[in-house]
Amino acid sequence: MSELKRIPQHVAIIMDGNGRWAEMRGKDRSEGHAAGVEPVRAALRAAVRNGVRFLTLYAFSTENWGRPQAEVDALMELFCQCVVSEEEELVRQGVHVCMIGDRSRFSEKVRAALSDIEQRTADGKVLTLILALNYSSRSEITRAVRQIARRVEAGELTPGQIDEETISRSLDTAAWPDPDLIIRTSGEQRLSNFLLWQASYAELWFPEVLWPDFTEEEFDRAIEEYARRDRRFGLVKGK
Ligand code: FPP
Repeated sequence: MSELKRIPQHVAIIMDGNGRWAEMRGKDRSEGHAAGVEPVRAALRAAVRNGVRFLTLYAFSTENWGRPQAEVDALMELFCQCVVSEEEELVRQGVHVCMIGDRSRFSEKVRAALSDIEQRTADGKVLTLILALNYSSRSEITRAVRQIARRVEAGELTPGQIDEETISRSLDTAAWPDPDLIIRTSGEQRLSNFLLWQASYAELWFPEVLWPDFTEEEFDRAIEEYARRDRRFGLVKGK
């Protein structure tokens, strides 16, 4: 976090409200997801302009597999299309695309598209865009605990040596700082299994706007709100 300008180093967004946006217009839910692509571009532009270094987007949760098959298929197709349509602009903006979540459940086609965009944007230095795909915090923590247990079993670590750092370094997000600000659109006020460990000291912001209506100005408002918050990390101010 930059103390001077109070710009969050890492912003994470729960992009909520695509389905409601579509239903309000008598459209198919998938059209709501398609309308959610432009706000992703807007959030990226605003993040780069504000000097945010890491932007995490909750794009597909482990629970989302339970949606109607047609909606899941449309989302998978949208992710593949975006990889192709957005690549040039992402490279131009200096964005490095990374992923968190368990991608083993995705089809070969989706996995190939994701690896492709990761590789093609690997030189991006301006902003790291972290897509949470087939992600849930509990599943991530469960995988981390299994990994730590295997290290204990192999004699690399004793139970007493396990500390918060061990856990943080075993999560999908090991390479990046925790989010400073988490935004959830659509007025819902919960984290829904998103970055539960990493959100310990995050500021939370819940604008009413549905995700397809999210704009650069909305992002700027969240940044302004963050700048007004008094982050104490459990300490006493000025001590
Ligand atoms: C939640 O809204 C949104 C999703 C499950 C999908 C998010 C995907 C996009 C915004 C598409 C573009 C993304 C990328 C990364 C290219 P919801 O369907 O749960 O809305 P509802 O609560 O109104 O039903």
